[in-house]
Amino acid sequence: MFDAVWLNCHAATMADAALGVVEDAAVAVTGGRIAWVGPRAALPAGATRTHDCAGAWLLPGLIDCHTHLVFGGDRAAEFEQRLGGAGYAEIARAGGGILSTVRATRAADEAELRQAALPRLDGLLAEGVTTIEIKSGYGLDLENEFKQLRVARALGEARRVTVRTTLLAAHATPDEYAGRRAEYARHVARDIVPQAVGLADAVDAFADAIAFTNEETGWVFDAARAAGLPVKLHADQLTDQGGPALAAAHGAMSGDHLERANEAGIAAMAAAGTVAVLLPGAALTLRETAHPDVDAMRRHGTRMALSTDMNPGSSPARSLLLMLNLGCSLFRLTVPEALLGVTRHAAAALGLADRGVLAPGMRADLALFAINRPADLCYWMGANPCVGRVVAGA
Ligand code: NIG
Ligand code: FE
Repeated sequence: MFDAVWLNCHAATMADAALGVVEDAAVAVTGGRIAWVGPRAALPAGATRTHDCAGAWLLPGLIDCHTHLVFGGDRAAEFEQRLGGAGYAEIARAGGGILSTVRATRAADEAELRQAALPRLDGLLAEGVTTIEIKSGYGLDLENEFKQLRVARALGEARRVTVRTTLLAAHATPDEYAGRRAEYARHVARDIVPQAVGLADAVDAFADAIAFTNEETGWVFDAARAAGLPVKLHADQLTDQGGPALAAAHGAMSGDHLERANEAGIAAMAAAGTVAVLLPGAALTLRETAHPDVDAMRRHGTRMALSTDMNPGSSPARSLLLMLNLGCSLFRLTVPEALLGVTRHAAAALGLADRGVLAPGMRADLALFAINRPADLCYWMGANPCVGRVVAGA
């Protein structure tokens, strides 16, 4: 006897590269886990509750695996500056960019950060997102980084969603360490990372010409691994500095951005099982002409995820469904690649083995869409056909 079954639906289970499509499907749930999925005609009898999906498509709950969703203020003025010709790195070097959000985030208390973040989160949930990663990185000292992480955790209590938190203290060098970047990186490694255990699920860093060197990033990653925390990396977004090889060498769960990643790095990521997280919202906003080498990722079998990178500067993207379209149109992903990128491979980028695929034993996180075929999720821009969301079977 199942707790509940979902009928009158089609399923895209994500179980294979063709999306594991089952037309006229049924999904049965017991104890918050998927108990059975397959053609309706083969469904074993007996369920306490029955849900009629009215012909909707059922997918694993969507996963936004790279966001900076908790922050103070916004950077609309900087957006206008960039439209006027100013560059992202140029604004950052002049003390704007990430550091301007750091000032606003430090000035905000937890209630204010939470109030500002909730509508952003709610927009994603309305699209069928059931798991989200949220990074710190706008505090840049222990107190303010942990304040961001606490707010992120509280969002997961306030809404029916899994929130995974990532410490990104190595995002930029704060004003009080101006000219002493390496010293700040050492401080992050020695004093902040070890104390983040219990509050952060992972540790991230920004390795780039405007951020940290590979050596400094390595200190932070060594500290993370000593503390038992998995790592991720903002890699080769603005410059090719060999970030993917660094990520792979540290067994990172993911290397993210990768606009300028070279083929050797992409191959190293595949060999290490490091997922490539592609962020077309940032590429579009920064009007990038260099795009991630998706062909090389295909050749080497690097798993690709897609995410919003939602942040106030480089990617004010509040829709994961729009990223599906941009992933296809801008980065030339296929429809199956894009959809696997917000489900199965996004779960892998977060080290979550219990979701992202509809299969017996997996968490019963589901998203229901009123569409004619899975490709519709990638095809339309600015539509939201999500008609239902199930979290752990409820
Ligand atoms: O993922 N690349 C670095 N960090 C963010 C940008 C943060 C910001 O501009 O505030 C990113 O794109
Ligand atoms: Fe990011």
